Amino acid sequence: MQKASLRKIGEYLIRRCKKEDLSQVASINWTSLPEHYSSYFFEATLNELPEAFLVVEKDRMVVGYIMCRIEYGMSVLYKFRIARKGHIISFAMLEQHRRKGLGRNLVEEALQALKDKGCSEIFLEVRISNSSAIGLYKKLGFKIVSTIRWYYRDEEDAYMMGRAL
Ligand SMILES: CC(C)(COP(=O)(O)OP(=O)(O)OC[C@H]1O[C@@H](n2cnc3c(N)ncnc32)[C@H](O)[C@@H]1OP(=O)(O)O)[C@@H](O)C(=O)NCCC(=O)NCCS
Repeated sequence: MQKASLRKIGEYLIRRCKKEDLSQVASINWTSLPEHYSSYFFEATLNELPEAFLVVEKDRMVVGYIMCRIEYGMSVLYKFRIARKGHIISFAMLEQHRRKGLGRNLVEEALQALKDKGCSEIFLEVRISNSSAIGLYKKLGFKIVSTIRWYYRDEEDAYMMGRAL
């Protein structure tokens, strides 16, 4: 049976996302990041991997989320190796709830869920100007594995970052 919450941090709760949370997730995505997704995409991602689509809740309101998927293919860490890879697709906290350690806890929970699903590594793309997110990922042991030129629509480059699980 699934646990109701994964982690409690003061008044905040980290738990799995539910379908009824998705409009709040989309709204956090809209206000926090330039990359947006359709409601179909959010729902499909939740259906595909509910274990690693997590939210932070406070007073019954969603204040942050992380959504992930699993991909099979070339390892981002080792040459000529095929891997089952966790991919962080999108991750954000509402501005007024940042710098409380919640983002870090959210990523840690998602990493554990991906490991439990058999992933041997995790990767993500991040804007090279996004020093706060890069700092967080480095604290969690991620390394920059490559730079992807003009990855974003506005032509900013991305770092691909990854680590073993
Ligand atoms: C990235 C983001 C999710 C971090 O969430 P958060 O809850 O504020 O992160 P935490 O409080 O857990 O921070 C963990 C560490 O990350 C780094 N960090 C986070 N925000 C930072 C900032 N504004 N400046 C510098 N370092 C920062 C720090 O090393 C921090 O540890 P510390 O507080 O002990 O110094 C949040 O800033 C956000 O939503 N940003 C907009 C969306 C985004 O960029 N998402 C990532 C896309 S790849």
